[in-house]
Amino acid sequence: MPRGDAAPSSRPAAVLPNIVLVGMPGSGKSAVGEKVAAWLGWPLLDTDEMVVRRAGRSIAEIFERDGEAEFRRVERAAVRETARAQRAVIATGGGVVLDPANMAALRRRGLIVALTAGPDVLLARLGADGGGRPLLAPDPRARVQTLLAERAPQYAEAALILDAARPADQLAREILAAVAARASDTVIVDLGARSYPVRIGTGILDLLGWEVRQQLPATQAVVLTHPRLRRRFGGRVAGVLRAAGLEPVVVTVPEGERAKSLRTASAVYDQMAAAGVDRRAVVVGLGGGVIGDLAGYVAGTYMRGLALVHVPTTLLAQVDSAIGGKAAVNHPRAKNLVGVFHQPALVLVDVETLKTLPPREVRAGLAEVIKYGMVGDADLLAFTEEKLDGLLRRDLEVLRHCVRWCASIKARIVHSDEREEGPRRLLNYGHTVGHAVEIASAGTLTHGEAIAIGMSVEVRIAQRLNLVSAEVVRRQGTVLQRAGLPTMILAGAPSDEVMMEAMRLDKKTRDGEMRFTLLRDAGQGVIDQPVPEPVVREVLRACRASS
Ligand SMILES: NC(=O)c1ccc[n+]([C@@H]2O[C@H](COP(=O)([O-])OP(=O)(O)OC[C@H]3O[C@@H](n4cnc5c(N)ncnc54)[C@H](O)[C@@H]3O)[C@@H](O)[C@H]2O)c1
Repeated sequence: MPRGDAAPSSRPAAVLPNIVLVGMPGSGKSAVGEKVAAWLGWPLLDTDEMVVRRAGRSIAEIFERDGEAEFRRVERAAVRETARAQRAVIATGGGVVLDPANMAALRRRGLIVALTAGPDVLLARLGADGGGRPLLAPDPRARVQTLLAERAPQYAEAALILDAARPADQLAREILAAVAARASDTVIVDLGARSYPVRIGTGILDLLGWEVRQQLPATQAVVLTHPRLRRRFGGRVAGVLRAAGLEPVVVTVPEGERAKSLRTASAVYDQMAAAGVDRRAVVVGLGGGVIGDLAGYVAGTYMRGLALVHVPTTLLAQVDSAIGGKAAVNHPRAKNLVGVFHQPALVLVDVETLKTLPPREVRAGLAEVIKYGMVGDADLLAFTEEKLDGLLRRDLEVLRHCVRWCASIKARIVHSDEREEGPRRLLNYGHTVGHAVEIASAGTLTHGEAIAIGMSVEVRIAQRLNLVSAEVVRRQGTVLQRAGLPTMILAGAPSDEVMMEAMRLDKKTRDGEMRFTLLRDAGQGVIDQPVPEPVVREVLRACRASS
């Protein structure tokens, strides 16, 4: 079993930083800024323009009537205002760097990017007369050289220094690549030619268009989501996709497990066909595991397969279901009965989306986190026990660390067994009983709650078979309960017989024999354990809340 990545993230939890462009006049700050802002769907704030607005006069007039000192005073106020913005590209006047207070304010929320160039490049762009800039008069070449010498040390302190001689488009791409690399941790799901990155960060939803473009040549994006999530994130997602040249078609389906059906899939195909979606499209699943499974199924089947991108917005989907390419819809006879393996080209996890996730859904996601710990990573289990309060409070940095850890476990398992012929079955711990409980609950339990009950039954089966100690049973029960998850089959659940029947139909039953993923210890799962039916019945009986 692979080990999780236990090292805490060195980056602070923050939304994406503002992008602050500094550089000499003629370095292309506005042109580059416009392109970066367009990719991200952010405004471009230009401090020179703000000075003009505030003063009600052109910069040349301010210099002429009031002198440079007055210009710098108004500029400082403009800088202070822009520095307070969030999710903005800021193009600064060339001299802004000279005031340390300016730079400190801009740095607080921003990534400073210097565009540097020599006098020849700058003057070629500005024109021999310096473009009428008062600071460059009367001898633009001599002034450019003096100002460059004066400002070079400040430009050298930027977080990113780029040679401005290149085209604005290329510079914008380099800035976006640098921002993306700084803002996200990347876990690669290594599947040879079908490998893909899982990007994990805070506030990185704005990078979706950019990230999709790095992976795919698509021209259209079908965003599959729920109406509630469309209201919350749909405009932003559609905007960044459009900015990246992907015409968005937003398709919504109702919430809940019932949406994972052939009927809903068919309704989605209808809308895609009506919108003229063809093989150049990418399907973007924006939502939890239900959306992810449906998006994967639709993408895997429409026109024999479209590209797929997951943007998971529940903890459960971020730590588990968005990674690995399993996609299925339910059938009246069994959960996930009809499905495909269809790997995404990209998974973009913005943990900031979890801020609006209802507490019950946070707890549901924790069931899968605890499952990872129980079957394969005692360190992750200990981390979850220690940081449970932070996870429940939705501390974004703790969540991000947890998601990255789980994603790296899942990536390694999927790498070793893409089609669930061996080690990937470890992840089915809790799911044989859990799926039966989930179906029987007819939508009253979340998937995670059902898995928590499933793990609680299955750990007792393992104990009954002398695989694990009472201490392991207790430890798992304690952490599940602390996470606010159920550990007993709830009163009113269907009979053992109904659940046994559901388990027989589960894909984990082979050759008519019930096989379970069980535990040997906390952190050590074991697959394919045959369990006699009478043992399953006996433990089911013992795990009923009323017993
Ligand atoms: N394919 C796999 O490998 C895999 C693995 C595990 C689970 N699953 C499947 O995942 C499904 C469960 O997924 P789930 O637990 O994410 O449930 P879900 O997709 O139903 O989402 C739960 C609820 O949270 C809402 N929601 C989602 N994101 C939100 C946000 N950011 N803010 C506010 N509300 C938000 C949704 O609208 C929904 O009502 C099950 O169908 C299960 O079978 C699949």
